[in-house]
Amino acid sequence: MDDLVEVKEVRKIFKGKGKSPDVLAVDTVNLKIKKNEFITILGPSGCGKSTLLRMIGGLEKQSEGIIYLARNEITGPSANRGMVFQAYSLFPWLTVEENIQFGSKIKKMESAKKKAITQQYIELVGLKGFEQHYPKQLSGGMQQRVAIARALANEPEILLLDEPFGALDSQTRLIMQELLLTIWEKTHKTILFITHDVEEAIFLGTRVLTMTSRPGKIKADIPITLEHPRSYKIKTEHHFIDLKEQLTELIRSESLKSIELQAQ
Ligand SMILES: Nc1ncnc2c1ncn2[C@@H]1O[C@H](COP(=O)(O)OP(=O)(O)OP(=O)(O)O)[C@@H](O)[C@H]1O
Ligand SMILES: [Mg+2]
Repeated sequence: MDDLVEVKEVRKIFKGKGKSPDVLAVDTVNLKIKKNEFITILGPSGCGKSTLLRMIGGLEKQSEGIIYLARNEITGPSANRGMVFQAYSLFPWLTVEENIQFGSKIKKMESAKKKAITQQYIELVGLKGFEQHYPKQLSGGMQQRVAIARALANEPEILLLDEPFGALDSQTRLIMQELLLTIWEKTHKTILFITHDVEEAIFLGTRVLTMTSRPGKIKADIPITLEHPRSYKIKTEHHFIDLKEQLTELIRSESLKSIELQAQ
C-alpha cells in the first residue's frame, strides 16, 4: 500500500536570536505513515515532538529535507490535515455546532449536508444535546471532543493530535482515550498522536515510535499487535505490561539524558 505521509531526511534548526545559540530541534527524521495507521509518538519533554508534528501540519517549515502527503510536497497548512492541540482551541464566541462547522471544507457545503455532517460528528463524540452550548459551558473533556469533531468534520486525510488529553484529569483522560479508539475502530482515519504517556501510546497505537532526547530522532518503531476492539481491560494483560516495560525503559533512558544535558 502507498504511504500517506513520507517524512524524508527532515531536520529543524531554530535560529537563535541575539546572543542565544541556534537550536537543533529535530535531526534527520525519516518516517512513513500508511493510510489507516494509528501512530503514537512517545518522547521526553523538549525532544522535538511538537516541532515534528507542526512541520507535518505545515505550521512550521523544516530547515532540511522534505515531507509529502499523498505524494504532494507539504508547503503549508491545508484542510487535508486536521489538528488538535493540548490547549483548548475552540472559538469562545461560537456554539459547539458553529465551531464544528468552521473548517474550510465544511463551510462551503450546502446547508442540509453541512447540518447532517455536523450531527454525525456530534453524535460520534457523544455530544448530542450540546449543539447550542458555548465552549465556556463545557468541561475540558467536552471541549476536546468538540475539537476532535471539528477536525474530523472537515474530512482530512490525517488527524494530527499533539497531547490532546494532556490537560485533562486522569479519569477523563482514560475515557477520552477509549472514545478516540472507538472512533478509529469505526472510521480507520489515519492518526498521528503525540504523547509522553507510555500507557496511552500503547493503548491507542497500531505502532509506537519513540524519540531520542533533543535533537529528536526516531529511536524505536514498535508495532502494537493487540487486538481490536480494545477495552481498558487490556492494560492488565501480560503482553501490554511487557510492552509498557520495554517502552518505559526506552523513554526513561532518553529523559535521563535530557536532564543530564540541562544540568551541564
Ligand atoms: N518557535 C521556536 N523557536 C525557538 N525554539 C523553539 C521553538 N519551538 C520549539 N523550540 C525548541 O525546540 C525544541 C523542541 O521543542 P518541542 O516543542 O518540539 O518539544 P516537545 O518534544 O514537543 O516538548 P514537550 O514534550 O515539552 O511538549 C526545544 O528545545 C524548544 O525550546
Ligand atoms: Mg510538545
